Amino acid sequence: MLQSFLTESEVAISQKLLEDGYVISPVDNLPGLNEIRKMIVELACHHLKIDYPSDPEHFLNHIHDLVTVENLNSLRLAIFRGMNDLSWLRPTYFSLGRSNLFSLVGNELAMQNRVNPSIQLPMDNSSLLDIHSDIFSGETPFQVVQWLPLVSVSGKKSMFILSPEKSKAVVKNLKDIGDMPSVYEVVQQDLKWLDIPYGHVLIFDSSCLHGNVVNDSLESRWSLNCRFTGLFTPYTSYEKKLGSFYLPITTRAATKIGIRYVEPGGFKE
Ligand SMILES: [Fe+2]
Repeated sequence: MLQSFLTESEVAISQKLLEDGYVISPVDNLPGLNEIRKMIVELACHHLKIDYPSDPEHFLNHIHDLVTVENLNSLRLAIFRGMNDLSWLRPTYFSLGRSNLFSLVGNELAMQNRVNPSIQLPMDNSSLLDIHSDIFSGETPFQVVQWLPLVSVSGKKSMFILSPEKSKAVVKNLKDIGDMPSVYEVVQQDLKWLDIPYGHVLIFDSSCLHGNVVNDSLESRWSLNCRFTGLFTPYTSYEKKLGSFYLPITTRAATKIGIRYVEPGGFKE
């Protein structure tokens, strides 16, 4: 006999996301991750007109030897376009965190229509994401972000997050604290810098305050991100609604039966 509808592991991982605001786990599909990284290195090499490197990890970590801050955005755009043209990218990206996404979000999901790449060169202050909550920019609070490093990240080569409890307290008093740089000063001591080795994936609550600062390591950071939400959640933003920004990915048979159901007709008015 059972007293809980959720399994023990589902309860544990849900508690972790609710308390810490994030979950880091080994990917469910390591060969898929390796293919994604290989494809990104290929796109970068094609853009830079160079041969595929013998050590892809070293190539990514040291991309700042080949690209300047000024040329970085055109590389990022070439990768964004190239990878999002591939029909296997989104299903494979989803497969990396599939089991956790099913436990944390649900088994009928909608996924952002694009996967976004981010590259941060050492000491580059031109592409920073200041401390923020995604909900400030019109995202639904019913979502998580799946964030994937393509190289191992830690410290300021990675991103930071503030716990849900502390984020809530800060957001509540935002008016009194002032602008976002002041918020960063206030919460700096409480931020958690996420150590994520290659082969692991992060799922986080983007209503928690998060962001990055200047990457003070000697290596470049490469990451991908994409949002997931339950198929049947409120879509309050006109811009970020289901059918355009979010697309259904795991619609189940009972939902299809419901959608296809036709009311009895033929009655006279
Ligand atoms: Fe964000």
